[in-house]
Amino acid sequence: MAARDASAWETPPPIPPEGLVSGTVYTDPAIFADEMERIFTPGWRLACHESELPEPYDYRTFDHAGQPLFCIRDGDGQIRTFINACSHRGARLLSDPAGNARRITCFYHHWSYDAKGSCIAVPRAEGYAASGLDRSTLGLREIRTEIRLGLVFITMDSTAEALDKSLAGALAPFEPIMGGGSLEAIHFSRSLLNCNWKAWQETNLDLYHENMHVVLRKTQRDAMPMADRHIRIYGNGHAGSGKMVAAYGGYQGFAGRGSDVPPLPGTDAADFRFSVLFPSSAILSRGTVMRIDTVIPVSPSQTILEMRGLGLKGDTDADRRVRYRHFNQYWGPMGRNVPEDMFAAEACEASFRHQAARYQIIARDEGLTGQDDAPLRSFYAEWARLMHRDAHAPHPVPA
Ligand code: FES
Ligand SMILES: [Fe+2]
Repeated sequence: MAARDASAWETPPPIPPEGLVSGTVYTDPAIFADEMERIFTPGWRLACHESELPEPYDYRTFDHAGQPLFCIRDGDGQIRTFINACSHRGARLLSDPAGNARRITCFYHHWSYDAKGSCIAVPRAEGYAASGLDRSTLGLREIRTEIRLGLVFITMDSTAEALDKSLAGALAPFEPIMGGGSLEAIHFSRSLLNCNWKAWQETNLDLYHENMHVVLRKTQRDAMPMADRHIRIYGNGHAGSGKMVAAYGGYQGFAGRGSDVPPLPGTDAADFRFSVLFPSSAILSRGTVMRIDTVIPVSPSQTILEMRGLGLKGDTDADRRVRYRHFNQYWGPMGRNVPEDMFAAEACEASFRHQAARYQIIARDEGLTGQDDAPLRSFYAEWARLMHRDAHAPHPVPA
């Protein structure tokens, strides 16, 4: 087949439309604004792991759907979430990424709040007597917060459907691993990626790109028959796998991985499984360590990636060091997996940004086994449902 001229290059191949995604979904500012309104604001989002807030009044700050938020453990042990803005003139209350604040005092005029969101002090409050301003009406805006398997989920929409209905069973593969409450966060990082948020999620949904990673070619792609790899489509855009098997002996330096530290509960050292939660998170476990991603869209072409690592509570220092090594072998800044995914996501973005490439193809169908693109198609089917736009032809918006 010859190279294509301009017209042919811009014309998608004649395949079912669900096998195509237009490049404009990564670049169009109007689509990005719609995503914030239609996908991120009403939906559930994974905020953190409860072990990141071990003590009363521990907090973490983060952004979601353009809103500054913070989670905090109150004096009764409950994790709550609030908009990180003062009731007075809106100043950001907490600026550090994490900390401990029994009393949250705004730097600007020193109004104070407690960890249940009540406004507990207004300096020289008598100055408001004439206006009738009442401190009891000045609490923080609380955000719906629920915990499953130690994972803290939030939604900006107080009328959003129940979390369990929204998750549609996508956490099930992790119940044996996380259900006993014996894991804790051992790693946290934030990276700024020069790509659209969906491009990062695609690296978690796309099994076919095992071909890119030398480490996955040697430890994963050929470790079990493709027909025995079962892909799960849960609905609501969530997808993942059941138990898969890695073979670490095939990669120099990884041999013996797992025999040197206890595996996570309910699993074994060779076990590999993942769930991608629409829209913004992914959970991956690899026998001895877990990784949790959350993407925070900044602009059409910039995304913050929050990455957490989970290990076993009560590790000895020596075991914890081994667990860090296992995490970093794949997912650390010099690991053999995540940095390559970043390169790939940014490489696609570079083409779509100026429409050098017009669409991508997600048409692999292997009957929910092997390297099927079904997880990508289910992600974009949910995207289309919420956006009222087709992913293969997002302009104009269908009636
Ligand atoms: S803006 Fe917070 S006390 Fe004034
Ligand atoms: Fe990858």
